[in-house]
Amino acid sequence: CGIVGYVGSQSALDVVMAGLKRLEYRGYDSAGVAVLADGGLAAAKRAGKLVNLEKELVHRPLPAGGTGIGHTRWATHGGPTDANAHPHLDNAGRVAVVHNGIIENFALLRAELAGRGHELGSETDTEVVAHLLAEEFSACADLAEAMRLVCRRLEGAFTLVAVHADEPDVVVGARRNSPLVVGVGEGEAFLASDVAAFIAHTRSAIELGQDQVVELRRDGVRVTGFDGAPADVRSYHVDWDASAAEKGGYDYFMLKEIAEQPKAVADTLLGRIDASGSLTLDEVRISASELREVDKVVIVACGTAFHAGLIAKYAIEHWTRIPCEVELASEFRYRDPILDGRSLVIAISQSGETMDTLMALRHAREQGSKVLAICNTNGSTIPRESDAVLYTHAGPEVAVASTKAFLTQLVACYLVALYLGQVRGTKWGDEIQAVVRDLAEISGEVERVLETMEPVRELARSLAGKNTVLFLGRHVGYPVALEGALKLKELAYMHAEGFAAGELKHGPIALIEADLPVVVVVPSPRGRSVLHDKIVSNIQEIRARGARTIVIAEEGDEAVVPYADHLIRIPATPTLLQPLVATVPLQVFACELATARGNEVDQPRNLAKSVTVE
Ligand code: G6P
Repeated sequence: CGIVGYVGSQSALDVVMAGLKRLEYRGYDSAGVAVLADGGLAAAKRAGKLVNLEKELVHRPLPAGGTGIGHTRWATHGGPTDANAHPHLDNAGRVAVVHNGIIENFALLRAELAGRGHELGSETDTEVVAHLLAEEFSACADLAEAMRLVCRRLEGAFTLVAVHADEPDVVVGARRNSPLVVGVGEGEAFLASDVAAFIAHTRSAIELGQDQVVELRRDGVRVTGFDGAPADVRSYHVDWDASAAEKGGYDYFMLKEIAEQPKAVADTLLGRIDASGSLTLDEVRISASELREVDKVVIVACGTAFHAGLIAKYAIEHWTRIPCEVELASEFRYRDPILDGRSLVIAISQSGETMDTLMALRHAREQGSKVLAICNTNGSTIPRESDAVLYTHAGPEVAVASTKAFLTQLVACYLVALYLGQVRGTKWGDEIQAVVRDLAEISGEVERVLETMEPVRELARSLAGKNTVLFLGRHVGYPVALEGALKLKELAYMHAEGFAAGELKHGPIALIEADLPVVVVVPSPRGRSVLHDKIVSNIQEIRARGARTIVIAEEGDEAVVPYADHLIRIPATPTLLQPLVATVPLQVFACELATARGNEVDQPRNLAKSVTVE
């Protein structure tokens, strides 16, 4: 899941281990390193967290050298054992390879290798690559060329990074569909799954494109296609520094990221709404005339980003009157969706690398639709392959459970909805102008919510022994309920479900029993008051059946007071913007419950930050 490569005059082992630590957030269950030194290659790998590998390195130190690679693996095929951990070596122990992704034709390649006398010790697809590289290298004595030849025979999605003892000052990487970035320093170069791994050393980065091979040497890097043709490379400057990816005094990244939300929201709005209240989204390089032609919006995303999409649907349909569908990216292309040149597909992804979302956007483009990405990671695959991108400016999000990225995805979705309304002239009236003004204030409101979270933390601690929590909401409060439940599953490992409050009576109400905690997200009593009144009835229904009600309601909403066992106040906002403030207590709630239950907050079990397999 995390890859690091280094060549330079520092200790490669130190650089690689520090880089792997920075990538820990991506989630993994085994780790390994290889360094080139004294004309040979030395490797170490261990199941479990990096600390196990560190112990192994104390017990059995590796020789010092300036070239090395490392890997943290999130098990897909084959359990998280020492043997399955990367790197994998060839029989002679001269080549080491680390790999992310899946090589689909590995069984065939393995049989071929066995037929030629290779002994393959593990069941992994990666080992096949080590053997193939060794074969090709023995013929051409050029690791980059060997990598190109091997890649041309591989099917599937992969990132590969390799070293060979006979080319001690070279690290070679290859990329198809899976993330890999290059860092260029003074007399040194880096390769990693993301820039966090080398940001402490250099902020100068190069994007690798699809089907490219990069050769790293101390004095520079060379990028070619799998066919050997030199590739055009795009360099960029990473505009955040190492401290952005550090905990900065917080116990967990998640706490820090929750606290950063007001700034993340403000940064995402910055420069996009002018003083007169009109939107300038220059990045959205889809022409106004094309946007006017759009007759359907389809949003694809996974996990938390999907919940942002569900909320966006309410805003887009209400403000623009364009029909909007929201679909889990993993389901999208398999049902043969109806798309054409007039459909606008919006792919939402924090990492920009989620394979399900990438596959959905490719499918959409194949049908002739325009794709707009909403993404937090500069230069990642999803924006690269989209027609346009609106970046969220949340800064690096390290904790696996998404918080600040979610709020900024909501902001970006509102901006897109308003922009569509502006361009098309639909309903561009007083209501929209008011929303634009409210958006400008919203980061201050998020700040106010954060200042009042102590009772939420206390409540969470008191519920640490519970097994189930339900979440209810209506309208945009329904996706908020889904997100609240997802956070609790991810972090507290509790059974948590979100329901549309109106659906309760059609089944879920059977789950209500004495003292069952039920969180209810209450819409504003102003504006759409009919929604509000209905949910107040729903609260009474569950309370009559013994539920312990945890009510999230706007300041001044007195109607809920008699039925709330616990009342969490949020500032008054227009209904459509309420998720920006209503989600925050649910994040705090889940984070505190996870801590109270002794769980690992930043890296919940079995989860990965960026899932690059389908
Ligand atoms: C993973 C993460 C989730 C995230 C989802 C989508 O499953 O664990 O927290 O919401 O991927 O990620 P993306 O980077 O595409 O937003």
